[in-house]
Amino acid sequence: MPDLDTIPLVPLNDGNAIPQLGLGVYKVPDDEAEAVVATALEAGYRHLDTASFYANEAGVGRALRASGLPRDDVFLTTKVWNTDHGHDETLRAFDASLEALGTDHVDLYLIHWPAPRQDRWVETYRALERIAAEGRARSIGVSNFQVHHLERLLAETGVVPAINQVEVHPWLQQHEVRAFDDRHGIVTEAWSPLARGRILDDPTLARVAAAHGVSTAQVIIRWHLQQGLVVIPKSVTPDRIRANLDVLGFELDASDLAAIAALDIGERTGSHPDHNG
Ligand SMILES: NC(=O)c1ccc[n+]([C@@H]2O[C@H](COP(=O)([O-])OP(=O)(O)OC[C@H]3O[C@@H](n4cnc5c(N)ncnc54)[C@H](OP(=O)(O)O)[C@@H]3O)[C@@H](O)[C@H]2O)c1
Repeated sequence: MPDLDTIPLVPLNDGNAIPQLGLGVYKVPDDEAEAVVATALEAGYRHLDTASFYANEAGVGRALRASGLPRDDVFLTTKVWNTDHGHDETLRAFDASLEALGTDHVDLYLIHWPAPRQDRWVETYRALERIAAEGRARSIGVSNFQVHHLERLLAETGVVPAINQVEVHPWLQQHEVRAFDDRHGIVTEAWSPLARGRILDDPTLARVAAAHGVSTAQVIIRWHLQQGLVVIPKSVTPDRIRANLDVLGFELDASDLAAIAALDIGERTGSHPDHNG
């Protein structure tokens, strides 16, 4: 069993803190989400990442309530989808998310994508600022924001995002956006940290895993932690859910980190933020 007490909390720029490792639930059907999240909470996860787009907020919420855990013990993230951009639309979408989740607040509310063709993400963010001021989202942030989106956001709005959730894994290490986030006190959170499973056969990662007596997935998640990233691997498989949390009993050394640094080929598994929505 992992030593759960040592899953680090990463401080956010608004005074809150986020568990560095959480469970992602993209593509988990609503009727499976309750069992998957129950397994994760039982294993010790205290951070869940959903979105209105995933259509499983209700299942996540059912699992949370059924767990009997105090609401404040679990860090809950959801996101506003591209078709709900705009100030009033976002306020309505947020209400719908709270209703589906069955909670009176989320810990983090994110703009899922900048959706640049609509060019409404600045007014969308103003709605997030209002939601945060009302205490209904403890923290607010963005997802899939490139440096140019962040520069405009910082120039035109009043609250620096707490989080920028972007695709990061050894094939897409995102040094430019991570450096910008770091300079501005924005925590970078890694989505598709396992490159949706495609990276698990990589021979370099397999060699590092064998040397430490762990799985390739555990090496990748450990790499994210040692990079200072927040990381949200997804699995519906109980053994994998548990194993993905069990990454504190070994450490990647300088030569492991150098070998993984060399794997950055700029390969996305998802859309490019300039061309989505
Ligand atoms: N903000 C955004 O735009 C955005 C976009 C994409 C994802 N996300 C978030 O990031 C989370 C993670 O990303 P993701 O779901 O795309 O992919 P991921 O976590 O990179 O990979 C998930 C895949 O890896 C498999 N897997 C997980 N652990 C494994 C293990 N220990 N051994 C072998 N295979 C394993 C899973 O299989 P099984 O499930 O079958 O076990 C699944 O096929 C999402 O769930 C979502 O919360 C956000």
